[in-house]
Amino acid sequence: MLAGQPIIILRDNVERVGGSEAQKSNIMAAKAIAEAVRTTLGPRGMDKMLVAPGGDVVITNDGVTILHEMKVEHPTGKLIIEVAETQDEEVGDGTTTATIFMGALMAEAEAMLEKKIHPTIIANGYRLGMVKALEILENEAIIATEDREMLRKVALTSVTGKTIEDVKDKIVDIVVDAVTSVARKGEDGSYEIDEDDVIIKTMVGDQMSDAELLDGFLIDKTRVQYGMPKVVENARIACLSLALETAKTQTKSKIKITSAEQMEAFNEQEQEKLREFAENIKAHGVNAVFCQKGIADSVQYHLMKNGIFAIQDVTETDLKRLARSVGATIVNKPEDLSEDAIGEAGRIAEMKDITITQITGCKNPRTVSILLKGGSQIFVDELERGVYDGIRVVMDALEDGKFVVGGAAIDTELMMQLQAYAATQEGRIQLAIEAFARIFESIPNTLAENSGYDQIDKLVALKAAHAAGNKHAGLNVYTGEIVDMYEAGVIEPMRVKKQAILSSAETASLIIRVDDMMLSKNAQQMARGM
Ligand SMILES: Nc1ncnc2c1ncn2[C@@H]1O[C@H](COP(=O)(O)OP(=O)(O)OP(=O)(O)O)[C@@H](O)[C@H]1O
Ligand SMILES: [Mg+2]
Repeated sequence: MLAGQPIIILRDNVERVGGSEAQKSNIMAAKAIAEAVRTTLGPRGMDKMLVAPGGDVVITNDGVTILHEMKVEHPTGKLIIEVAETQDEEVGDGTTTATIFMGALMAEAEAMLEKKIHPTIIANGYRLGMVKALEILENEAIIATEDREMLRKVALTSVTGKTIEDVKDKIVDIVVDAVTSVARKGEDGSYEIDEDDVIIKTMVGDQMSDAELLDGFLIDKTRVQYGMPKVVENARIACLSLALETAKTQTKSKIKITSAEQMEAFNEQEQEKLREFAENIKAHGVNAVFCQKGIADSVQYHLMKNGIFAIQDVTETDLKRLARSVGATIVNKPEDLSEDAIGEAGRIAEMKDITITQITGCKNPRTVSILLKGGSQIFVDELERGVYDGIRVVMDALEDGKFVVGGAAIDTELMMQLQAYAATQEGRIQLAIEAFARIFESIPNTLAENSGYDQIDKLVALKAAHAAGNKHAGLNVYTGEIVDMYEAGVIEPMRVKKQAILSSAETASLIIRVDDMMLSKNAQQMARGM
């Protein structure tokens, strides 16, 4: 109140959810989301079938894909999904792990809030725990640079339990070869790898074992006219985002046509412009055209007559990546076609028996493509997600040269060392660090549960092995035995675990400190229903 006048700071249609209600709603959201993905963790995790409103079906084991398809509306739920998305963007794997950590952090917070531990203390404890966890991770990391066997193991761990199972050895070799062949070594010895240099293309119809690693860039289209050359050597490439047809009016301007003759004249004029452009393409010595839009018959004919190869309706993503690989600039106005805009490649050729064109000897960085095959679209889509995870983890591992041991080994180690660290702290913050340590239990617990073993038995056995100094002891999810996971070859890039800890802990600390949600009208329903 100011001089007796109330100050209105919220609009009428804004609802406030305060104090413990806001916290409860947020905790509930985190737990529900983690619950939705936890059964997919590990090699014996199950898949989820997701059905979109239109009836499209996706079957997947991939954490971030499940969360995407769930179309969560709860505001905090969205923040939690962002953790999985960040995980996917930054490191490409571990999205289920990050979400499970998030759920565990919020469940631990719930128990502490009930004990009247202040949110600030919880958040501070989590932050201290996170810093310590990252330190432990660095200490426990295995350093191995340029070690192909380690890269194979990382790829194998990442694809294990995904659809690839039957042909994983072949796929793992393809993935490691793909990444190592596009990696560029800097002067300081470090590697630089661009995800865009490895293209994944899928094809329905053949067997999964027919997966191939091919040099260059693949486009799942072929030339527009059979009369065009099937193979182009020393290609000079124009990448066009403009249409080479007049059928749909491309500009917003209006024209007034009052007679059939005028219409014809107008069409003729437009056609003439296109022919001129086709002439211009030829004059620049271009022998291959990749067009994002359509190419009119007359233009196709014109190009064909001049021995120019052309593909139409190339997707925007493909066109951008192709332009990058061949060093072309995408042309969106006829007058922009210049020598600088033209890209180069050694060879363009249509592949045998399939509608795919391969572009090799790219001018810019080296590009390789992985062609995946399988019996149905649903299947190849999931295969692609698995291979993508594999590519990303090999990239992470090659860039850092740091590895941790999976199968719950590193998680048990983190849990025990963090517990020891908590004991060195005084006051209530000790409880928050202990709680932070416990979140790492969620990995052995979930792996055990998903494999049909008793969580408590396995956790006790794991702790005993680690206490006896066996830092690589983990759970063999096929036999239930506690074994040396390093020996078993279950290796992960350190960066994946690091990112999962970092983003889940930071987001949890943020959310815990929220005690007031101000929801505009639409958001009110979202916060109530998930
Ligand atoms: N052979 C194995 N034995 C035991 N544990 C394994 C084995 N292979 C992988 N794991 C463990 O499984 C977990 C990874 O499971 P999964 O790939 O399903 O989830 P994620 O990587 O967290 O998320 P996503 O792959 O969905 O992004 C890791 O903790 C890893 O150590
Ligand atoms: Mg994974």
